[in-house]
Amino acid sequence: MTKWQNEPFEIKVKADDKLAFCMCGRSANGPYCDGSHKGSDILPEIVTFGRDQTIHICGCGRSHTRPYCDGSHKTDTVPA
Ligand code: FES
Repeated sequence: MTKWQNEPFEIKVKADDKLAFCMCGRSANGPYCDGSHKGSDILPEIVTFGRDQTIHICGCGRSHTRPYCDGSHKTDTVPA
């Protein structure tokens, strides 16, 4: 996955939002899908929310609960 940043994206979402988050790491508009996954077998994660809230989307690509941040950016090391 492309390293967009080493911290989560904090995003305020509305109850009726439906967002597509990049799961391939190729998007130039991370953390959102820009269609760059086409030609691969990786699909974006489509998420609906049901209520207004603030979410934290992984920006480092190391979360085990992607697309959400799980704090791995604080502890996991990037292979050299
Ligand atoms: S930004 Fe990736 S785990 Fe937090």
